[in-house]
Amino acid sequence: MLFTPAETENLKMKNRLVRSATAESMATKEGFVTDELIELYKKLAEGGAGTIITGYMFVSEDGRASYKMTGISEDRHIDGLRRLVEEVKNVANDVVFVAQLAHAGRQTILGNAIAPSAVRDPYTGVEPREMTKEDIERVIEAFVNAALRAEKAGFDAIQLHAAHGYLLSEFISPHTNRRKDEYGKERAKILLDIFERIREKSRIPVMIKMNACDFVPGGLEVDEAVRIAKLLDDAGFEAIEVSGGMYESIYHNRYNVVSQKVAKSGEAYFKDYAFKIKDAVSIPVMCVGGIKSRKTAEILLKKVEFVSMSRPLIRDPYLPRKMMEGEVDASDCKSCNLCLTAIFEGKPLGCYAKN
Ligand SMILES: Cc1cc2nc3c(=O)[nH]c(=O)nc-3n(C[C@H](O)[C@H](O)[C@H](O)COP(=O)(O)O)c2cc1C
Repeated sequence: MLFTPAETENLKMKNRLVRSATAESMATKEGFVTDELIELYKKLAEGGAGTIITGYMFVSEDGRASYKMTGISEDRHIDGLRRLVEEVKNVANDVVFVAQLAHAGRQTILGNAIAPSAVRDPYTGVEPREMTKEDIERVIEAFVNAALRAEKAGFDAIQLHAAHGYLLSEFISPHTNRRKDEYGKERAKILLDIFERIREKSRIPVMIKMNACDFVPGGLEVDEAVRIAKLLDDAGFEAIEVSGGMYESIYHNRYNVVSQKVAKSGEAYFKDYAFKIKDAVSIPVMCVGGIKSRKTAEILLKKVEFVSMSRPLIRDPYLPRKMMEGEVDASDCKSCNLCLTAIFEGKPLGCYAKN
């Protein structure tokens, strides 16, 4: 099953293994694609994943989370991105290559953070400014323009990053979105607006990665995530990748995106959330979080259409091919998270494990 083809409404995948978006920390200061970034993606393409989702790319300058993040905020970014797509397609013409579009919201190390509401992040100490209507309009426009740039560069699809406490995730969370206007009354409105405005200009498939639970007091809980997922399904999104947690959940010592504690407690730690969302939507669902073995992947695929991996493919980009050929059954990634520490220090993405 893992290595049998799958489809979404507009895309054909050669298998069901997805490389989940993973920040590379390899772009230039201005967000341009580098040779190092291209080499990383060529390896991933050779490695056999059917779908590859790029690391988060900033849609506007104030949406940068960190210094070496890739940019898709200006037309001058397109040439480098086009080269990236061409090189990947030269290696594996049948890979579905997806651009992840993001705005950092309050989770930025660069200052001047904006967010739906001025809710301080106790983990980072960042105190964001509440966005005005004009800010919201500008950010929607930035996502739409970024989607059009992704299409021009040749990506097969885009994925909106509405997980992990970044800006779109902050909008759908009742903890970080306390607005009284229409963007607070319907917290998914910004997602629907972005989608509609992209559709006025382009047919590029639009996927989404969203939290099913924030794991913070007063945050998004799964029932509300299910309601939002249904809206996205009705709107025409292509697929939903289900994740959870934000920086703040580390402060509260609860689950988070890549917690070691959670990873050690068993594979596929968000599977119940992905299953709940799958029960409610007709579009394909991707399950992510601590999936290491082919055996677990096969079990998950009885219920969802795709399984996503991040850290196992940092450890070894050729893992899918090795699994397919029966050379290995599972990743030997120990979830030490030194990869994450490294990118936050501005070092390039890679496995920094001690063994
Ligand atoms: C180094 C690193 C960078 C990440 N960057 C992103 C990112 O840019 N966008 C995103 O949606 N998730 C990002 N994630 C989260 C992963 O996509 C994934 O959801 C998480 O690591 C759990 O999956 P895993 O257990 O297979 O690693 C990152 C994770 C790691 C370890």
